[in-house]
Amino acid sequence: MAEISGTAMPPPSGDKQDEASERLWVLFVTAVIVLLVAMVVYTSVHLGFHPPSQVETIDSTSLHQGGEFSEANLGTVIGPDGSAVVRVVAQQYAFIPNCLVVPAGKPVTFRLASADVVHGFIVEGTNVNAMVVPGYVTTVHTTFENPGERLMPCHEFCGIGHQAMWAHVRIVEASRFPADADKQKAVNCAS
Ligand code: CUA
Repeated sequence: MAEISGTAMPPPSGDKQDEASERLWVLFVTAVIVLLVAMVVYTSVHLGFHPPSQVETIDSTSLHQGGEFSEANLGTVIGPDGSAVVRVVAQQYAFIPNCLVVPAGKPVTFRLASADVVHGFIVEGTNVNAMVVPGYVTTVHTTFENPGERLMPCHEFCGIGHQAMWAHVRIVEASRFPADADKQKAVNCAS
């Protein structure tokens, strides 16, 4: 039985092995921490992964009644510099519009709002991955380098139809963008 007292017990002799193994564990844990911090730095600096830092609120119950996320504004608008802003409403169980068209090689800003519950969206093969929380506008900046078609599923369980909630992102050459885009009208794949 070990003696219980208020004073620290001197280490029993012959415990060099324990001490060595403890040092090894300290080294190992330190190495893991250094590795994890290095991964965070690498992904944020080199791959451009960032947590959302901007908080912008919106009344999710009246999106359809006008304002930025009214139906006519949904889709892609091209700015004078060729960059794109894509406005999307996420609701049970669809993204509106459900096919987005964006220019390749130009800065693209996604702005999403939820009309009901928490949704998520991810554009496959890219670093676009965010949640859409009712009451807030989700803003994501990215650039798609190559033309192509990518899936954009909802990745946050949002109800019984969750697995059927997804959209397409069609990346086209900037020069082949729908002509309507010049008129500051929001466009989507159907335009
Ligand atoms: Cu929307 Cu899952």
